[in-house]
Amino acid sequence: MSLMEFDRVSFSYPCSHKPAVEDISLTFQEGKRYALIGRNGCGKTTLLRLANGLYRPQTGVIRWCGRQLEYNGTGLRLLRQNVGLVFQNPEQQLVATTVVEDLSYGLCNLGLPEGEIARRVEETLDTFQLREIAYQPVNYLSLGEKKRLALADVMILKPKLLLLDEPMAYLDYVQRAELKTQLYKIHQEGTTIVVATHELDFAYSWADEIIMLDKGRLVSVSF
Ligand SMILES: Nc1ncnc2c1ncn2[C@@H]1O[C@H](COP(=O)(O)OP(=O)(O)O)[C@@H](O)[C@H]1O
Ligand SMILES: [Mg+2]
Repeated sequence: MSLMEFDRVSFSYPCSHKPAVEDISLTFQEGKRYALIGRNGCGKTTLLRLANGLYRPQTGVIRWCGRQLEYNGTGLRLLRQNVGLVFQNPEQQLVATTVVEDLSYGLCNLGLPEGEIARRVEETLDTFQLREIAYQPVNYLSLGEKKRLALADVMILKPKLLLLDEPMAYLDYVQRAELKTQLYKIHQEGTTIVVATHELDFAYSWADEIIMLDKGRLVSVSF
């Protein structure tokens, strides 16, 4: 089943004369693992932000489960319950003072009952190995810990489609191996994943499908 479709999507930043992504058509099928690759500035981050509804295409349409995205409060809330984006820089993701507060934040916004919030936070502390730092101030965490928390913040909302922007950046090789294991597990549990990455070894060994961009255009999709 197709979760998300881009249909001839183009997007230009204000004040820029050339599109950051241009005439992109692609489909994210449920249950697959995608790697989005290409040189710096080719449009990976822009494409992920379009998929999450942070940007709106000037031409073309994006569909979620066959329905065109609606860029109003209700439409975007619905989209973001299903599509989670982990930013490259965790500083942009983390909002609260402590790890536990940060994990609870999105769930409180969804208006879930307190018991359910507590249960999910407990579970997530274990899944993402955050228990030891549960009550630490987010400011004092190492970059690796911040990245782990940013992923946990998104996964606690149980998205169907998980988008990650350069998740390996700034991680050492042990942390990379741990992240790979984590991504395999998340996929096995039923989440469709798209990873924008510079790590070609990882992309080719992990993904079912490789999407390559060049200067905002799709150059190839390979299996
Ligand atoms: N906020 C912005 N304002 C203007 N131009 C931008 C902005 N963000 C990115 N761009 C431009 O859009 C193009 C695609 O960038 P981006 O999506 O960040 O690529 P990638 O993630 O592949 O490095 C680049 O030419 C970049 O300079
Ligand atoms: Mg980028």
